[in-house]
Amino acid sequence: METRLRQLLTELEKAGRRHDAQEPDHARKMLNLEQATAHLLSIMVRSSRRTRLLEIGTSNGYSTIWLAWAARSIGGQVISIDRDEHKLALADANLRQAGLRDVVELICGDATQVVADLTGPFDFVFFDADRLSAPSQLALLLAKLTADVLLLADNALSHPQEIAAYLSAVQALPQFDYLVIPIVDV
Ligand SMILES: C[S@@+](CC[C@H](N)C(=O)[O-])C[C@H]1O[C@@H](n2cnc3c(N)ncnc32)[C@H](O)[C@@H]1O
Repeated sequence: METRLRQLLTELEKAGRRHDAQEPDHARKMLNLEQATAHLLSIMVRSSRRTRLLEIGTSNGYSTIWLAWAARSIGGQVISIDRDEHKLALADANLRQAGLRDVVELICGDATQVVADLTGPFDFVFFDADRLSAPSQLALLLAKLTADVLLLADNALSHPQEIAAYLSAVQALPQFDYLVIPIVDV
């Protein structure tokens, strides 16, 4: 990754942590991925050559930049959804600053309603919104996934109760391998 882009991501990491520490309203926090998790996702995209990516939960675009950077290196595209207009405006600005805006379609709306209207196919889906609605989104997406799709979700260990229904839904899909990966940011 170019130094300039790595510097932008480091700035976003610091600014996101500062913002979240002083913001009492959970809905207004950025809640960005840990750097190691975002890096792992980008490695997965590049190494398995994923080109039709869907992200549910954009926030200010931190993880979207990692995904878009990886997707662009192999000619891919990202669709990213968030219901918060203000955060999407930040994501728009951050993606422009990263030089990756052309790789990403940002969609504002409730994720379950939005995915119902998406065409697909998707070969990489990253669930990082409210977790409780993820099972409904998964059900709506099933017919729009490639046979080798990678389904990823954050917070399997940090929010076990909220994500339980989603994890059960994935485990119930007989054709999928299922794994929880503990990630330590060092
Ligand atoms: C954990 S943050 C996403 C962080 C982002 N992936 C990153 O690493 O920078 C979750 C985001 O999902 C959005 N969100 C939560 N529930 C949603 C829903 N049902 N539909 C659309 N967006 C939702 C929130 O507005 C919030 O910005």
